[in-house]
Order: sequence, then C-alpha cells, then structure tokens
Amino acid sequence: MKAGHERLPHVTANRPANAAVTDSPFLRACRREPVPHTPVWFMRQAGRSLPEYRKAREGIAMLDSCMRPELVTEITLQPVRRHAVDAAVLFSDIVIPLKAIGVDLDIRPGVGPVVARPFRSRQDLARLRPLEPDDVKYVTEAIGMLTAELGATPLIGFAGAPFTLASYLVEGGPSRHHEHTKALMYGDPGLWSELLDRLAAITAAFLRVQIEAGASAVQLFDSWVGALAPADYRRAVLPASAKVFSAVAGYGVPRIHFGVGTGELLGSMGEAGADVVGVDWRVPLDEAARRVGHELALQGNLDPAVLFAPPEAVAAQAQRVLDAAAGLEGHVFNLGHGVLPETDPDALTRLVAYVHEHTAR
Ligand code: CP3
Repeated sequence: MKAGHERLPHVTANRPANAAVTDSPFLRACRREPVPHTPVWFMRQAGRSLPEYRKAREGIAMLDSCMRPELVTEITLQPVRRHAVDAAVLFSDIVIPLKAIGVDLDIRPGVGPVVARPFRSRQDLARLRPLEPDDVKYVTEAIGMLTAELGATPLIGFAGAPFTLASYLVEGGPSRHHEHTKALMYGDPGLWSELLDRLAAITAAFLRVQIEAGASAVQLFDSWVGALAPADYRRAVLPASAKVFSAVAGYGVPRIHFGVGTGELLGSMGEAGADVVGVDWRVPLDEAARRVGHELALQGNLDPAVLFAPPEAVAAQAQRVLDAAAGLEGHVFNLGHGVLPETDPDALTRLVAYVHEHTAR
C-alpha cells in the first residue's frame, strides 16, 4: 500500500455520524467495502437536462442561484428524487469560492466562467486572499438544509482543483489550448507555484466548509488537467493538488479526484492523496486500475454521449463498464464527464435502474 492510502476510518466530520449515511452503498464503495449493489451518481446530475431545474432557475443568474440556500437545496434534491441516484451533489460551481473572495467573474450561459481581468502578473496575486467560512455562509446553510432532507443519501461536496481554477483565471474564460496558462507555468515557475498554492489554500478552505457543514464525501474537479504532459503534471500541478487532499485528510471522508483526458496521468493522480480516482471513458476501468494502483477505488466511466443512443445500446455500453469493473474492489458508477445538457432525463433514470438491477448481490 502506498503511504497515505490506509483504509478510511468509519467516521464523519464534526457532527454526529449518521450511521445510515456511513453505511450507504456509495460510501462503502469509496472505502472499497462490499456493497449490496454498485452505487451510481452523475457529475452534473443537478442541471440543465432537467425541466424542473430550468423552471426553478427561471430568471435567476447561475451564480446568484448558488447563493440561495433554499434554491440550492431544491435543485440538489431534484435528481435524487427523479433518478434514485445513490448520492446527491451540491448545486454550486467551481468558481464560487473565487467569486466569494471578490474576483470579478460571471458564468455566461452556454460559455462558462468569464473573468473580467485575467491573472497574468505577480500583482494579480494580491487579488487572491484566503477564503473564510463566512464568505460562503450560504453554502453552510444549504448543506445544513440538505442533510436534514437527504436521510440515508450521502451528499458530495466539491471544488475546482488548482490547475483548472488557474486556467479560468489566467485565460479569463474557457480555453481550448490553455496557452496563457501554460506560458505562465513554463515562463515563471515561481509565480506559477505561488498562484497554485494560493488556489490550493482557497480550495482546501472551501472543502473544509462543506465537510464541516455535513458533506459526506468531496470531489476535486481537475477537469482540464488532461491538457498536460505527465512530467509537467508531476512537477507543476500535483504538489498543489496533494496539498488540498492532505488538508482534508483528517476528516476521514472519501476524497475523489477527477479529470478529463487523464489516461496518461492516472498513475500520478493516484499518488496525489485521493481515495477514489474518477476516470473518463477513454480508458477501460480494469486498465485504469492498473495505472492508478489497486489500493484506490475508481469512479466512472460511461461516455456521456452514449446516453443519446437507443436504450438497448445504452444498456450494452453500461454493461461494458460494469464488466471492466467486475474484478475491482470499490467501483462507483458514473459518467466519464458531466451529463450533457440535451440528455433525455429518462435515459439517466433507466441507467440507474440498470446498474442497480445488474449488480444486485
Ligand atoms: O454536478 C452537479 O450537478 C452539481 C453542480 C455543478 C455545476 N458546475 C453547476 C453548473 C458542478 C459539480 C459544476 C462543476 C464545474 N463547473 C466544473 C467541473 C465539472 C466539469 O464539467 O468538468 C467546471 C469546469 C465548471 C465551470 C463551468 N460552470 C462550466 C464549464 C459551465 C457550463 C457553461 C455552459 O453553460 O455551457 C458552468 C455553468 C454551470 N455550472 C451550469 C451548471 C448547472 C450551467 C448553468 C445554466 O444552467 O445556465
């Protein structure tokens, strides 16, 4: 076993452990314990594929909606009610902690996060002060309401990883090539590592708030890290992500580490300190386990585009994922990336039922 990958103790954060949550299939799978069925949840399950979501959000800007605890609670619960998924994921966004410390940014519909003044120089570091719990009171409040409603269903909290947040800050918005981000990473390694360290501290603080409020697991989204070569990932990014994982290690809640296009990085990502590694659809889970190391649970990895195929084809592809995971200890079924906005919600409901039925033991 690698250092730091001891099995997780059966404890939750600074609140009385809810035994039913602790013993839920999702948390058991994260701890690589036997499960009654393979647990399922979907990245971006709370969102635009649901008509009830679009209705709840009518006339409310994305970032504003994340700051209203009642609305966050309702939107977070919608996919749990509709699909019978094994975990809820907090309705929020990876840029919320940056917004909360005063970075001038917005989420534009159909585009994504846009930063008014991109971060390019040492002076810009001063715009990244530490995150205090009071900056995100609405998150604490929403999680309190959610854990009261969710019963035995665990709530997953999340944050953006330092590299992915840096990409939005440095590019000023979504980017295909991450050219300004990479220019800073190669051109000014000192400033780059200070930037990533500040982001790691903000991310760790944001995860701590969520765990202390009652989140039962956390996921670190490093969505765009697959743009890096392995040596650059190890040198310039892994140390900052590892700081985030170690900052929340003491809580004993499972920590999930996810990125897209990370086939060549899976071994390194497995060393960053997470308990579960999320895998996209490009690497089958049995091969992913060889790359990550068998000490960690895996999450994934149906291609979200498969859900646009007829039901029999979706079932066949879901079965392929289950077959590849059959020999593993600890599998959380998920998509290889988030639910696409045009997905038929009924396809998701059917997929949850399929996985539950075909893995019942
Ligand atoms: O998973 C969930 O259901 C919980 C909510 C959630 C959102 N964003 C809500 C959201 C989560 C986990 C995220 C994470 C997030 N945000 C990531 C990592 C996940 C991934 O997809 O890789 C990233 C990269 C972001 C940044 C971001 N925010 C993007 C790229 C977009 C999409 C822009 C668009 O409209 O195409 C957003 C906006 C956003 N975040 C929406 C939602 C539901 C859409 C807002 C809307 O409905 O108008």
